[in-house]
Amino acid sequence: MKLYYFKKISSTNEKSKGLAEKGISNAVIVANEQTRGRGRFKRKWVSSEGGLYFSVLLNEKDINKVKYLTFIAAISVVKAVERITGLKTKIKWPNDVHINKKKLCGILTESFFGKKNYVVVGVGINVNQGEFPKEIKDIAISLKSQLGRQVDKNRILKQFLKEFDILYSQYKNKKYEKILSEWKRYCDTVGKNIKVVTLKKEFYGKAVEVDSDCNLILKLKDGKIKKIVEGDILVLGQ
Ligand code: BTN
Repeated sequence: MKLYYFKKISSTNEKSKGLAEKGISNAVIVANEQTRGRGRFKRKWVSSEGGLYFSVLLNEKDINKVKYLTFIAAISVVKAVERITGLKTKIKWPNDVHINKKKLCGILTESFFGKKNYVVVGVGINVNQGEFPKEIKDIAISLKSQLGRQVDKNRILKQFLKEFDILYSQYKNKKYEKILSEWKRYCDTVGKNIKVVTLKKEFYGKAVEVDSDCNLILKLKDGKIKKIVEGDILVLGQ
């Protein structure tokens, strides 16, 4: 994969889109800082120097399995972080990587299907931030704050790309079950009582499974089963 490195840009996802429209694919777009870093649900992603911000731009034709690309990115983050720092992290459905319930990494996958077909998998990892702004101070964590030392962002990125490459060839070979079972090993959402916040509603229940379309299966208090396609979750307990 070709690597594009920028000191400061609006957003690596945005830049990837621009490059894709010019016909570029199979590329990684990295930025030291983002001025308009984006999160899911149009939220802002704080992107000051210290964090690792990048997007993987892929040519994809099959829209149906795109969610697996987010899953393989999350697995790759968990593996890269453990390999480089020794820290064990967990995945919260669908795509947060956390340590002690605090967010270490977020993933924003955007798909474009039209004249050109491509997918942008954007990854933000809190690596060397010392302090976070007030709004996210209680919910965010960085590798540096956890380890008490700086971590080489390039090593994390290189290792991520190695892991991603292996999983991406499984994806290309349609080994979805294999990917899902590995993802489940790192996910600590299933089995927990949770609150799910979707754009329209809130639900309370127990997370019982993640299905083969990457949806979260929730058992509501009245015993009914609810499929959650998208949303934020809050883990309440066992
Ligand atoms: C989330 O948890 O809401 C997803 C956050 C994704 C942030 C990354 S940083 C690199 C890439 N560029 C962006 O503008 N967003 C993603």
